Amino acid sequence: MKTFIGIDTSTTATKALVMDESGKVLSVASSEYPFETPYPLWSEQAPALWWDATIKSIREAVAKSGAPAESVSGIGLAGQMHGLVLLDEKGQVLRPAILWNDQRTGAQCDTIRERIGKAKLIQITGNDALTGFTAPKIVWVQENEPEVWKKTRHILLPKDYVRLKMTDGYAMDKAGGAGTILFNLKERTWSTEILSALNIPHDYMPKTVEGTEVSGLLTPKAAELLGLPAGIPIVGGGGDQAASAVGTGAVVEGVVSLSLGTSGVVFATMNTPAIEPQGRLHAFCHSVPGKWHFMGVMLSAAGSLRWHRDTFVPGMDYGKLLEPCSDIVPGSDGLFFLPYLTGERTPYPDPFARGAYVGLTVRHTFPHLTRAVIEGVSFGLRDSFELIKAAGLADISQVRVTGGGTKSMLWRQILADVLKADMVTVNTTEGCAYGASLLAATGAGFFKDIETACAETIHVMETTHPGKNQAVYDEIYPLYQGLYPALSPTFNAFAP
Ligand code: XUL
Repeated sequence: MKTFIGIDTSTTATKALVMDESGKVLSVASSEYPFETPYPLWSEQAPALWWDATIKSIREAVAKSGAPAESVSGIGLAGQMHGLVLLDEKGQVLRPAILWNDQRTGAQCDTIRERIGKAKLIQITGNDALTGFTAPKIVWVQENEPEVWKKTRHILLPKDYVRLKMTDGYAMDKAGGAGTILFNLKERTWSTEILSALNIPHDYMPKTVEGTEVSGLLTPKAAELLGLPAGIPIVGGGGDQAASAVGTGAVVEGVVSLSLGTSGVVFATMNTPAIEPQGRLHAFCHSVPGKWHFMGVMLSAAGSLRWHRDTFVPGMDYGKLLEPCSDIVPGSDGLFFLPYLTGERTPYPDPFARGAYVGLTVRHTFPHLTRAVIEGVSFGLRDSFELIKAAGLADISQVRVTGGGTKSMLWRQILADVLKADMVTVNTTEGCAYGASLLAATGAGFFKDIETACAETIHVMETTHPGKNQAVYDEIYPLYQGLYPALSPTFNAFAP
């Protein structure tokens, strides 16, 4: 029996998952690391941490799997997107990686928009310049650390640094490439125009490969460190969101994935490279070869409920917290919650957006406050759905839900009612690392294509259909939509 490994190089840990050829997860191991915030708005991590954690996690996962190391027949790499890794001509790391959640580059985003023009930038890359993306981080280094920039010869993303250690080659998956916003979205390759406008030599960028394409082979040196056979294929893999979508089977148009963790991510596969004209949705390449995706990101989704719980009733079980909310009428008797506790990305890319309760009266009880939170988050997610539909993907037949928030039956029902689509759970729970292992198995020739791999391994478990409250939520949603525009002048007045 052959086995495949999926790696998720996340911001907090590297996870390794071992899957057998039937798609069964044999084992998972994870190794944690910190990230540094040396100054306000900064977020950095030393690339060596990822490689050390990869070695530990792979060794532990393979030992736990019960399968011989010789059975491992392919590795898929996935992980945090957008992080900037700068290397010199010998492949030595020049400075700590600047991560996706680093916010220092507001001025560089303006510079990029000025140099290229916002409309043109969106037209070419599918995206506006956001502080999270890679290109503004490069411009920041050019402006603030010219001595580092002078020595730079290679630019990679976190997961691709792990690839370099495994294969001795410079390569990046196309989902990750698109997330740099140095990519021509339609052509699925580097944009000469954007690179030259930002004074980035083309040869600093690695070759890019599709998610299932073999990017290189495991070198004897890396094989020895990992305890694996040399020469096994390392496939392109994907950014964490694209790989997670593969891991839940959201690989065809009409099947949307919704992850309700600390942040909330709405991910819609596209057969053609559509864009949202104002760049309010991210538009990236999928790790499904030849497909693209839209993505809406809410920064505090289940994170809002955690804040509510931790602030008012620390330690309370979520089931107990949500139980009395079923008795509250939809719309929480006129109480709204805005979930912008950590600023927002979609549909308002505004670091200064703030959370709010609006409409409080003496008649409201604690369960009203709780229900308003899960309704507010659901309305905020509907904003992404509306943008996706308006951009041409009107037909959303099914939403595959994952993440802590979707364990609640009540929240799943509210989501079905607010989003007016079936919410389904699937049999897989290891999203990103599982998606990476399916990409590896496909790239190693074990499945015909990634759509087949998903169809054969991922199954729908429970379905929640939209119910009688749809009409009430339809009536209330426009009121929610009016709140951010009305309150943003106040939020901005509080901005530091
Ligand atoms: C995607 C994004 C995050 C990071 C870290 O655009 O910023 O998902 O990849 O998980």
